[in-house]
This record gives sequence, C-alpha cells and structure tokens, in this order.
Amino acid sequence: MQICRTISDIRQAITDFRTNGESVGLVPTMGFLHAGHMSLVNRATQNADRVIVTIFVNPTQFGQAADLDAYPRDEARDLDMLRAAGVDAVLIPEVADVYPEGDETIVETTRMANMLHGQVRPGHFRGVTTVVARLFNMVQPDIAVFGEKDYQQLQIIKRMVRDLHFPIRIIGVPTMREAGGLAMSSRNVRLSDPDRAAATVLSCALDAAENTDTIEAAEKTIRDTISAEPRATLKGLDIVHAETLAPLSGPLSHPTAIMLSAEFGGILLIDQRVITP
Ligand code: PAF
Repeated sequence: MQICRTISDIRQAITDFRTNGESVGLVPTMGFLHAGHMSLVNRATQNADRVIVTIFVNPTQFGQAADLDAYPRDEARDLDMLRAAGVDAVLIPEVADVYPEGDETIVETTRMANMLHGQVRPGHFRGVTTVVARLFNMVQPDIAVFGEKDYQQLQIIKRMVRDLHFPIRIIGVPTMREAGGLAMSSRNVRLSDPDRAAATVLSCALDAAENTDTIEAAEKTIRDTISAEPRATLKGLDIVHAETLAPLSGPLSHPTAIMLSAEFGGILLIDQRVITP
C-alpha cells in the first residue's frame, strides 16, 4: 500500500494505475476508521481495479475550532486497517496543500446545503463539497463511495457531481448495523449498556414507518415509537423527497427519506431510511 502525503505523489501513483488501464475508486474519510468505513472500502474494491482512500480531517466543515481539535485521530491504526483491506494507496494531505495560501474558491450546493442539518451547522456542507471537489480533482477517480448514514451529505455530493459534470459515479452504501439494528457509529462505544439497548428503538421506529402510507402517519408512528422509550429524546425528524430533500406531505408516493436524530444519555445518534413506494 502506497502512503502518499503530497498531491504529486498520489498523482504519480494514479498515473501508474492508469497506464496499466486500471480503473480507480476513491473513498474519502476523515480517519479514525470503523466497520462502516471498511464497508465503503469493500464496495470500492468491488467496483474499481484500484482503491485510494483519503484521510483528511477537513477544517472547513467544522464550526468550532474546539470540535476540530477534539476530532479523534489514529493514523497508525487506520493504515493497518486499510493495508489489511487491500487498499492500493492512501492520500494523507496537509491542510496547506488542500487549501493553498490565498485560497478563495468554495463549492456549495446553495439550497441543499442550507436546509435540514445544514441549518443546525451553518457552513458545514459548504466545507464538505469544497473539500470533496478538491479531492476529486486530485485523484480523478472513476467512482467514489460514501455512506448512506450521512444521507444529506450523500445527496449533496450527488448533486454537486451532476451540476459540475464531474465524470465520477457516486455509490452510496447502506448503513452497517449491529445485531439489534443499531446503526454503527464511533459514538456507540460512549453509550451505557441500557442506552445501547434502548437505542435500537431508532431502527424499530423506521421499520414501523415503512408500514404506513402517508407522510403524516409515518411521522406520528416514529414520534410515538420513540416517545415510548424513556431513555430516548427525539431531537430531529425530517421526512423528505429522497433526492431533492424537499419536504413532503400526503400519500407516500415518492422515494422518501426519513432522517432522524435522538439523544441517549447525552449522546446524539442519527439514523435514516429510504422508503420506495
Ligand atoms: O463523511 C466524511 O467523513 C466527510 O464529510 C468527508 C466526506 C470525508 C469530507 O471531509
């Protein structure tokens, strides 16, 4: 596995792959990898001859410097996991290379970035699209893989790729789940045992919503299911068009995304489901 710390190093690696006629898949990450990330890597290996993973804790998508500083990092462990998964090259760029001195270019999906989760974290999705566009230009992959767990992010990246004509196929990978249905997340280790058991209510609520036939019934079912669990505090519930993220009402007649967030003992968890009528 090649470890590249500069853009010219990764470009050399890619030139070698391309010279052999090989396709390239990209998995952008911020490191501190877990099983969810590895499922993205697996999917990339199924869809491209060569797989490149980027590890870059992107400062422009954090609202507060304290969050950026607190972001967990373990490069040695990440590299071991990627090596074991058969990744061909890892790009670990410096902030000053990704954002050169005097940098003034941003990429933003003007509507989708500023709704739903984007209202709670202003500027977050602008930071994501700005860095992902730069990573796409550095690596120029044929495919790029993202998790469905960050559903709004996935739809925003698809929209950016479409609007800017990036010749890249975006692949969304379903959320990995623990045995009881809890979506895998690096936050799960911070849950107490009773909260971890209680948190399975999120996937139960989503399962129950699948059996409803209107947006309003889906919303009521989710609220009722979660409020029946005393350890859960529902924080956010959005039921929107699965591609445009526009709010919906009435009969479930479009592909519909349900995005929810809830707190368990002070730990915020998110989950999502796409329902196709
Ligand atoms: O999902 C993430 O880990 C990040 O938002 C991404 C896509 C790597 C951009 O920094």
